[in-house]
Parts: sequence; C-alpha cells; structure tokens
Amino acid sequence: MSADVTILGIESSCDDTAAAVVQRANGIGQVMSSRVFGQTDLHSDFGGVVPEIAARAHAEKLDHCIELALRDADARLCGMDAIAVTCGPGLIGGVVAGVMMAKGLSAASGLPLYGINHLAGHALTPRLTDNLGFPYLMLLISGGHCQFLIVEAADRFRRLGGTIDDAPGEAFDKVARLIGLPQPGGPSIEAAARSGDPMRFALPRPLLDRPGCDMSFSGLKTAALRARDAILQEEDGLTEKDQSDLAASFQRAVADVLAEKSRRALAEFQTTTGTTGAFCVAGGVAANQGIRSALQDIADAAAARFVAPPLTLCTDNAAMIAWAGIEQMALRAPDGLTLSARPRMPLDTVSQSMLGSGKKGAKA
Ligand code: KG4
Ligand code: ZN
Repeated sequence: MSADVTILGIESSCDDTAAAVVQRANGIGQVMSSRVFGQTDLHSDFGGVVPEIAARAHAEKLDHCIELALRDADARLCGMDAIAVTCGPGLIGGVVAGVMMAKGLSAASGLPLYGINHLAGHALTPRLTDNLGFPYLMLLISGGHCQFLIVEAADRFRRLGGTIDDAPGEAFDKVARLIGLPQPGGPSIEAAARSGDPMRFALPRPLLDRPGCDMSFSGLKTAALRARDAILQEEDGLTEKDQSDLAASFQRAVADVLAEKSRRALAEFQTTTGTTGAFCVAGGVAANQGIRSALQDIADAAAARFVAPPLTLCTDNAAMIAWAGIEQMALRAPDGLTLSARPRMPLDTVSQSMLGSGKKGAKA
C-alpha cells in the first residue's frame, strides 16, 4: 500500500482560478478543500474567454485562492508533501501565472513540484471519486475538450478519437448565442429544450457515416444557423416555441452523435482490453441530463459500469490536478524549477495527432 500523501493543487489554464488540497490515505483519495474562482462576469461582454483578461485575473486571484484552500483544509503549506500545478494545455498567460506561482511556493518551501497535464487531471478524476482501477474508457466533453481516451495507467493514455473542429460545449455556447439564449449556452439550451420538439428541425448527425470515433460539431452549428435564418425569413423574430424547438433539435443531434461514437469507442475499448470495464464521462457537457442518460444507456447495453463524477469535480477544478500529482509522485521524479508552461500538450503522444482545426479550442 502506498504511503499517505497530501498535495496542494493549482489550476489556471482557462477561466477558472482554482486551488485544492487532496490527501490519499490508505490508498483512498479525499478532497480536503477545493476552491474555484470563476471569471464568467469578466468575459460576458466579449462572447468568449479573453486570454489577456483571464491571465490578469489569475495573477490577481491565485494567492488568495491558495490561501483559502489551505485554510479550508486546516492545513499549512509546510504540511504538504508536494505542489502540483497545471502546466498545459491551455491559454498560455493563465498557465504561466499558475506555473510561476507554484515555482515561487516550491522555491520558498522546498516542496517538490509536479507539472500536470490538465487533461490527465480530468482523465484520472474517476480514480479519486470512485477508486476506479485501470483500464477504463474516458469521454471528455466540455467547452474546450472532446476526446475518447483509454486510461491505461496514470501516465499512459490512448486516444481513440475526438473532435476535428469545435468541442461540444463550444457548439452549445455558439448555438445559444444564435438563437438568443443566455451564456453559458449548455444550461440555457437544456432548459429551453425541455419544452421543445426535437423532431421539428432535421439537423445533421456529422461523421456518423464514417467509421471510427472522430466527431465534428461545427457543421451542426451552421445547420442550426440556417434553420434560424429560414424562420427569420418568415417571421420578424424567433418565438419562444422556435427557440425551444431549435434547442431541442440541436441537443438531440449532439446526444445522438455522442451516443453512437461512444458505442463505437466502448466496443473498441472492450476488444482491445478484453474487459467490460467502465465508461467515464467528464467535463461541463456531462451535466446535460439528456446526454448523460444517452451515455448511460450505451454503457448499460455494453454491460460496462458508467461513472460520472460529481459536477464540481467534472468541470475545471484543482482537486483533479492535486490528485494527478499524487498519482505521478509514485511514477516519476519532480519537475523542479525548470518546468515550463505549454499551450499545447497532447496526452497521447503515440497515436497520430489530429489534422485540421481539432486543436483550435482553448484547451484542445
Ligand atoms: O468543463 P467546463 O466547465 O469548462 C471547460 O470548458 O473546460 O465546461 C463548460 C462548458 C460550456 O461550454 C457549457 O456551455 C457546457 O460546458 N455546459 C453544458 C451544460 N452545462 C455546461 N452543455 C450542455 N448541457 C449542460 N447542462
Ligand atoms: Zn478542463
């Protein structure tokens, strides 16, 4: 059994400034504290995250956020065993702010420093929340991520496919804007879709006619735009019924694509690993009840366990970074003060990298 450890985690790769203290005792992870300072208000006038504003807000808030996380855990920096910080992928100004802060704390305290891939943080979360064993299949779906990963070990990930353009959360946000619903688009589309008719608009199911697990969401967004414009040629504006029918049709299309691609990814996972295993989902889009239940059905049909961590640990947070740090401590030496921040940082360095704009998102 591995030794008990307590780690401070720091995350600042997009628009959430986060710090957390996580402990592993008797092999079981426990979140002692987790603070997340969002920046939605700072970016709301601009229709997306503004990198300069995000970086400045991280630099202003990180010290306070860390202080609160330590206080919530009733801990002190000198009581930690190491510091783990997101070193990529992400918006480079924000990542640099977190890495510089972590280096400063490491230099002052003498604590070992671990640079963590943000995607590894998401991918390893089911081990923190559900003590899941390797291997398992992970689907990351958020505003910046969309990929299937076979998680073979804490430092071994195999990518089965992902988006070739937008991430699904990005598509939810853009479609919400198109049809006059508030940001973030995911929750407002889900709310509007409840009273809508998902069959009214025949939106495409991109890439379902092609083999494999790659996905595309930007054509779906364009199709939603065309459907909206067709209504606007007939009427002065969208009625509430138009909005909810468009929202429901769009959401159903995304759910259908994710479900079919998940079915294929799970079949590939089960064939290559020889296990029924578990199918895990993380990221803000996993909050969507329609999508979540479609994915649960896919897991059930394949007799796989379905694991969806609680939403606070599904969306960006620092507990997942601290936990990934704990897992990495057993596998490698610390990074030290030469650690650099990286805007791009694929988890799987073996599989062929994506062509085209699949790497466009903030954290793709
Ligand atoms: O994981 P997250 O908090 O941040 C990153 O992007 O990393 O995900 C945020 C994304 C946004 O695009 C938001 O619209 C989407 O997740 N989202 C949802 C829902 N709640 C949040 N999408 C669909 N349905 C939801 N209920
Ligand atoms: Zn993330």
